[in-house]
Amino acid sequence: MEIKVHSGKLEKCKNRAIFSYTFSEDRKLPSEIAELDKILDGYISKFRKDQKFKGEEGSELIVPTFGKLPSEYVILIGVGSKKKADVDTVRRAGANTVRLAKKLKIDKFLANVESLVATKESQDKLAQAITEGIILGNYSFDKYLSKKDKFKIKEAHIRVKRKFKAASEKSVKTGKILAEAQNFTRDLVNEPGNVINPEKLAEIAEELAKEYGFEVKIYDVDEIEKMGMGAYLAVAKGSANPPKFIHLTYNPKKSKKEIALVGKGLTFDSGGLNIKPGEHMRWMKMDKSGACAVLGTFKALGQLKPDVTVHGIIAAAENMPDGKAYRPDDILIAKNGVSIEVGNTDAEGRLTLADALCYASELKPDAIIDMATLTGACVVALGEYTAGLMGNDQKFLNEILETSNETGEWMWQLPFNDMLRQDIKAPSADVYNIGQSRYGGAITAGLFLEKFVDPDIPWAHIDIAGPAHTTKGWYYHPKGGTGFPVRTIVNLLMKK
Ligand code: BES
Ligand code: ZN
Ligand code: ZN
Repeated sequence: MEIKVHSGKLEKCKNRAIFSYTFSEDRKLPSEIAELDKILDGYISKFRKDQKFKGEEGSELIVPTFGKLPSEYVILIGVGSKKKADVDTVRRAGANTVRLAKKLKIDKFLANVESLVATKESQDKLAQAITEGIILGNYSFDKYLSKKDKFKIKEAHIRVKRKFKAASEKSVKTGKILAEAQNFTRDLVNEPGNVINPEKLAEIAEELAKEYGFEVKIYDVDEIEKMGMGAYLAVAKGSANPPKFIHLTYNPKKSKKEIALVGKGLTFDSGGLNIKPGEHMRWMKMDKSGACAVLGTFKALGQLKPDVTVHGIIAAAENMPDGKAYRPDDILIAKNGVSIEVGNTDAEGRLTLADALCYASELKPDAIIDMATLTGACVVALGEYTAGLMGNDQKFLNEILETSNETGEWMWQLPFNDMLRQDIKAPSADVYNIGQSRYGGAITAGLFLEKFVDPDIPWAHIDIAGPAHTTKGWYYHPKGGTGFPVRTIVNLLMKK
């Protein structure tokens, strides 16, 4: 889909449909739509009244123009209350626009961003948000369908006031890169375990490196063993697919900061010997979502090229039960020498992350962020739509929270405390991979990770078990992988 910026008159617009946006407080049509209404003999007002269109979020009013305008339709999309509106309202409006365009088989449309000015942001910011919403809302994972929907949207025109045109051309480009990087992540998350195994994930990282000129190092089992990654290796032992440790580096000429991103990369999590019951095992192809978000972030970095060095670190593995699998009660030694007693082989993510975080700490970056579908407990605590944020540096966590507010990727901080620190004391080793109690399970997982991070390095842990994947679809996310939190991470890196 091509996205262009426009600032022409609506009555001259030659797209097949003009989409404009209405707040629920709007009693009258905005002046430019009132102009169109005149040309259409008052049919916009009439339809609006007859159909009781109130501008509620997600509602729509479709007015055919019967040859009176170059466009075939004028469509009003409700965006809800002006008081509640923010940039994410605009993203959602973009997704509602593109979905309706698809349904009506409109391959070329105009989105009148000017009608959204009641939100506080400048029009170029809104143009970026609607672009993101359009591209994210248009996504589908249809690769394996023998009957694909052949209809494709060809062009979307974003209309802004003339004085915002130049800035919007830039911001729309940024929005396109961000949303496409997020869709790239979604594609990877949606691939099943028989297609993406650790080896394949490493190949994808290598392809990215080739395409954008990143450095890449893939470590195989022997090298992983030599590095002393006893926790990570144990998790991989039950699988016929060998582990691959991936280290990507984006190294720009000018670099102000160095950040390490660590992604949980379980290409499938069966639970291992503590095997998951069927209904919990379903969708566990998504247990590589953190890794996929790291790879999606790199896709955006390769195009946006910020002045910050970024490491992408993934300890990819598959958690399977087998005669060679690791077992409950096993004692493992991580890269930093910390001994870990296994309480449950299904708490495997933190074991792979333990060694990956040791590796990241040894690079001595200015900050570390890990993202992981780590605990069901986090989903219980916060619901499916919000990620749990934890870490060792409040200022750094605040920065992430602030950015996530802008991107609409909801995060909420969970508190560490010394009582829960005691909960992961093990019978016979330095630390247990589960809490003694199931209460505070997302936090005890975070506290486990803390043992493998250099305390002098600001570190954030994002538990994305809830929002990384959706079986129902929400806002601009169709069913499947969501690509959470790619836009937050990229935006954060762009601010460095
Ligand atoms: N991958 C799961 C966590 C998960 C659960 C992600 C649901 C997405 C949706 C993780 O490896 C896991 O199994 N965690 C256990 C930990 C427990 C054994 C302490 C869990 O959350 O039940
Ligand atoms: Zn697990
Ligand atoms: Zn897992």
